[in-house]
Amino acid sequence: MAAMHQWWERDRLHYVEDRLVFAGRSVAGLARQFDSPAFFYDAARVAANLTRVHDALDEAGFAGRHRINYAMKANRFAPLLTWMKTSGLCSVDACSPREVEHAISSGFSPAEISFTATSLSDRDFDRLSRLDGLEMNCDSLHSLRQWGERGSGRSVGIRVNPAVGVGRAQNEMLQYSGGRTTKFGIYREQFGVALELAARYDLTVERIHFHTGCGYLTPQLSAWEKVVEECLWFVDQVATVTTVNVGGGLGVPHVAMDDPLDLSCWARILNRHFRPRDLQIEVEPGDYLVKDAGLLLLTVNAVETKKDTMFVGVDAGFNIAVEPAVYGLPFQPVPVCRRPGAEIPITLVGNINEALDVWYPNVLLPQLKTGDPLALINAGAYSSSMASNHCMRGEFREFLLL
Ligand SMILES: Cc1ncc(COP(=O)(O)O)c(C=O)c1O
Repeated sequence: MAAMHQWWERDRLHYVEDRLVFAGRSVAGLARQFDSPAFFYDAARVAANLTRVHDALDEAGFAGRHRINYAMKANRFAPLLTWMKTSGLCSVDACSPREVEHAISSGFSPAEISFTATSLSDRDFDRLSRLDGLEMNCDSLHSLRQWGERGSGRSVGIRVNPAVGVGRAQNEMLQYSGGRTTKFGIYREQFGVALELAARYDLTVERIHFHTGCGYLTPQLSAWEKVVEECLWFVDQVATVTTVNVGGGLGVPHVAMDDPLDLSCWARILNRHFRPRDLQIEVEPGDYLVKDAGLLLLTVNAVETKKDTMFVGVDAGFNIAVEPAVYGLPFQPVPVCRRPGAEIPITLVGNINEALDVWYPNVLLPQLKTGDPLALINAGAYSSSMASNHCMRGEFREFLLL
């Protein structure tokens, strides 16, 4: 393999003689064959990410006692879901009846689907209660009541809100629990009422579920441990709990300064608190499994200097991959063919008439020209699944690379 120079280079994503190679393919070759914008997903990278999480949990004492539910909201591309099912490496986390049906149409059974959602309608509950074996986690008193009314004697999970959270470095938009009061999960104050409701409907509370934020990396693991500690209070109130669902939120590096999440340390925290209680672990990552397995291929439309800024405009905007503009999570632009010469500062922008349509301000890249293909990495999660047709520029292609 070529020497690794850039912070993001790794197995199956690297330069060979200044040509970008992704998933064993020349990206210039992909650009020749397919119109941009196009998302490409590397199945082998998804498998490696899944295996890394399994291994960390095995080593932390949860061998045969854990389940990974892929959070399909991150990317619901049907070929990817079907491939995941056939890999046998995971089940699914779904958050709407349509997602559940889409997972079933991709090969998963209801029993392989963990469901955690918010603000559900009567019709939603009706649709869900027809599915045998669906793993339901109720996030509110309302949800417990509605689920209980549609069938007593079942097992259920309760999503709790520990009033602390963990997310990528100080990014409040990525926190689901903590400083401000949120809609997610049942707080301590109402947990007693929740248990009474469960008892009234003869629902056995088997799981405690929490998901408190997204994108956390190694520096946030002390905050992660605090979240886990707070959740123990809920676990210890319920004798029937066999499983703790620790949500998703595991992050991947977005910039050169980020180190990959120390998964062993993450799993040791689970071991410290949950192994002594003999609990099974469920984890439901989205980002961690698919984000760095995705690449968005674009084409440079225009290069022009305005005042002191060189703008490089490409053929897609924030509406097909919202994270950089909306959540401040930059996607590193990577030239498909690296030209010799000094890197220069450019501002990479899209083709949407909105002030926030900036892919990456002031980034150092080799000189680019109109017609050049350009790749954005980390485009595998919350991109196509959150895309809109804003400005009627919502068109893109998707390919799973096996
Ligand atoms: C309940 C729940 N579980 C899992 C996830 C997946 O999070 P991530 O993709 O950050 O791992 C989310 C994301 O919003 C969520 O709300």
